[in-house]
Amino acid sequence: MQKLQIGSQIAQVGGQDELCHAVADELEALIKSRAAEGKMAVLGLATGGTPLPLYAELIRRHREQGLSFANVMSFNLDEYEGLGRDHERSYWAEMWANLFNQVDIDPANVAVPPSIFDHAEDAAAKYERAIQEAGGIDWQLLGIGGEGHIGFNEKGSAVTSRTRRIALAEQTIRDAAPGFGGEKQVPTHAMTMGVGTILEAGRIVLMARGSSKRDIVKQAMSGEVGPEVPASFLQNHRNVGWFLDSDAARS
Ligand code: PGA
Repeated sequence: MQKLQIGSQIAQVGGQDELCHAVADELEALIKSRAAEGKMAVLGLATGGTPLPLYAELIRRHREQGLSFANVMSFNLDEYEGLGRDHERSYWAEMWANLFNQVDIDPANVAVPPSIFDHAEDAAAKYERAIQEAGGIDWQLLGIGGEGHIGFNEKGSAVTSRTRRIALAEQTIRDAAPGFGGEKQVPTHAMTMGVGTILEAGRIVLMARGSSKRDIVKQAMSGEVGPEVPASFLQNHRNVGWFLDSDAARS
């Protein structure tokens, strides 16, 4: 893996396997050090295509090397509004299919923002409270959207934003359409952790792959910090790792 400076930030650049191994190594070290102290490792996890090879690597380590998730607690970043947990495109279902069902995590330690609720503000506040009660997030995984969203914090999201209901951007709906069989089937709203919620994590790892992410990654790492590109707020975090493949990193 190579280090590449982009603006004030340093990216780790490598092939998909190298990136996933490096991120899995970080996670494994955290989980094991917390287990040695008799403590939980509190993770913030992400959906989308980007983390799938990482999750496959974690499952491999669980099966072949005995990496245990018994002391892992997980809070997902976001969830579509209105999809039940049994809907295959719900992030709840995706997380179980792609990771949780295949490791030894306690189902009681899995949290995904609510999809169906009567009062959005109450539901959001409850999710925030659960994160606080867990002692905050130790390690947060992020992808990046084509317009710079992290979680579903779309363009315009404030640095102080907390978990809340949000309208999905047109670009986000277009990107999700193939999985839903058309734009009209994509939920118009979601529940997402806020930028402020994300920035409170002790360590943040953003992964990006492919040339379609190149321009937005560059803006996030070296452009003006502000709500136009919510991922740019990561420039001000004290412990952020950018893990990019060479297509996403090339300037
Ligand atoms: P992707 O999504 O991993 O499917 O590219 C990232 C995101 O929209 O945050």
